[in-house]
Amino acid sequence: MRIGVFDSGAGGLSVAWAIQKAFPDVTVDYASDTKNVPYGDKTPEEMVRVSLEVLRPLAETSDVIVVACNSLTTNGIDRLRQELDVPLIGIEPMVKPATVRTRTGIITICATPATLRSERYQFLKRQYAKGMKILEPDCSQWARMIESNQIERKEIASLIDDVCGQGSDVIVLGCTHYHWIEKLILESANGRAVVLQPEAAIVKQLGVLLAGLGQPA
Ligand code: DGL
Repeated sequence: MRIGVFDSGAGGLSVAWAIQKAFPDVTVDYASDTKNVPYGDKTPEEMVRVSLEVLRPLAETSDVIVVACNSLTTNGIDRLRQELDVPLIGIEPMVKPATVRTRTGIITICATPATLRSERYQFLKRQYAKGMKILEPDCSQWARMIESNQIERKEIASLIDDVCGQGSDVIVLGCTHYHWIEKLILESANGRAVVLQPEAAIVKQLGVLLAGLGQPA
């Protein structure tokens, strides 16, 4: 059994590791689009077009592909499903779980500009977060920072301090790159907010799919 994991860059690697840890007997193939990263400021059409150059060969050797990129999932998963003949699992911001966890009714979604302006994300907000206050701070440079390993810790800490100060008690990591700075975000929240990211949910979903394909989960 081979599971392909795709992201624009290094973000999805943390997802690939979580999958490999949960399913030690499967082969996890990681693929990224080093030529075109970051995706967060691309249009849906551009993202789909460039990602397919990497996804098509990955699909040849994969039984399932995890699209470990919120930007691409929210902007293009339907198109990708039409183009690729392999089951795809996407990753999108955990809006619904956040609305369940919050006590203040104020949640923060950290995501790329492409994710925030996607129709899918707008739908998730309308569907699950009516009446809630949603903070969408400017994280537009974070994927670049993480990709180049030049993390502005103070800037990130101050942004998190600001959203917590506004009463947000849930922070959603809506971009897989941010999984690499989860600890910094948690420390900056300093007990004022929980941080949600999707690795456990993806592992669970994959387990169900693998069981369906005849692979012990
Ligand atoms: N890691 C990706 C995401 O989850 C893409 C970030 C980027 O390339 O801008 O959105």
